[in-house]
Amino acid sequence: MYKTILGIETSCDETAAAVLRQENNRITILSNVVASSADLQAKYGGVIPEQAAREQLKSIIPVIQESLQVSGYRGQDINAIAVTYGPGLIGSLLVGVETAKTLAYIWNKPLIPVNHLIGHFYANWIGNSSPKFPCLGLLVSGGHTDLVLFTSHGKYEYLGGTRDDAAGECFDKCARLLGYPYPGGPQIAKLAQKGDPKAFNFPRPMLNSKNLDFSFSGLKTAFANILKEDLRAKKEDLAASLEAAIIDSLVIKTVKAAQKYEVEQIIVAGGVAANQELVRKLKVKSEKLKVKLHVPPPYLCTDNAAMIAAAAYYQKPTPDILTLQANPNLSLAIDR
Ligand code: KG4
Ligand code: ZN
Repeated sequence: MYKTILGIETSCDETAAAVLRQENNRITILSNVVASSADLQAKYGGVIPEQAAREQLKSIIPVIQESLQVSGYRGQDINAIAVTYGPGLIGSLLVGVETAKTLAYIWNKPLIPVNHLIGHFYANWIGNSSPKFPCLGLLVSGGHTDLVLFTSHGKYEYLGGTRDDAAGECFDKCARLLGYPYPGGPQIAKLAQKGDPKAFNFPRPMLNSKNLDFSFSGLKTAFANILKEDLRAKKEDLAASLEAAIIDSLVIKTVKAAQKYEVEQIIVAGGVAANQELVRKLKVKSEKLKVKLHVPPPYLCTDNAAMIAAAAYYQKPTPDILTLQANPNLSLAIDR
């Protein structure tokens, strides 16, 4: 196992680099730098791929330099480089992958390609937390909502996922209907604290289906209809009711999966795991099931490079640095 890893993450609109150190089976963060072009995305109401890639290009070198400087390591002294190679926006991914390849080549370091989605889960292996296998993984981000069963490092079975929109996407689209900029999840969560979650009875699609799949697009349509029909609806109540519907779907299917596969541990990951109401409800259910719940702190739930470096401790380097290619279409369902 490598001792010090530089992680690089550029799958979407965040440019991130981090240096992590592993000692006595404990992974710690020496630096964790994230530069976001979210202000730009907010202005245009979402991520524009070309613009995101251009911002990645501007930020990548300063962000890597800062992460090394804060960690106290020179590039030449780290043991390996880890990089997100998919899924994501091709232009953004290319910036990280080609930079990582160049640095690995110049510094003569092993290069470890990491699936961004697997990376999210490994935020749970940083610091004191060290999940035990088998464990159930719930990934909830802006682009993904997936349930997987991990049996060991790198070995997992895909159990189910969203049939349409991701949970984060539903938060973002509904927030936009209320006039809030991207990403809208944190804004909905803030409004929800002052609203009534029972004010509107939004649908919980697929709740009674036998499979472990989700669906959120109908929820967004129901939200849009209420906005049109009920002009006096309070934003806070809409937000609280929407949040409750999304959380119910996530929690109920997660509990179903935990019972079906008789797991003793659950790991949660992705930007939506920064939602404290989701965490609170998952905690209540896990305690009842006597299952240990792992959720990273909010700054490790949203996109960052520390999680990419953490995942790399449990993976092998690529045999040929120069032929590594970004793969925007990687998923949990096919990449095993
Ligand atoms: O994992 P992430 O940073 O990027 C992707 O890989 O997609 O997730 C971003 C998503 C966005 O949809 C954002 O609105 C959502 O995570 N998010 C939240 C919260 N914080 C971030 N959703 C609900 N509540 C939050 N507190
Ligand atoms: Zn992500």
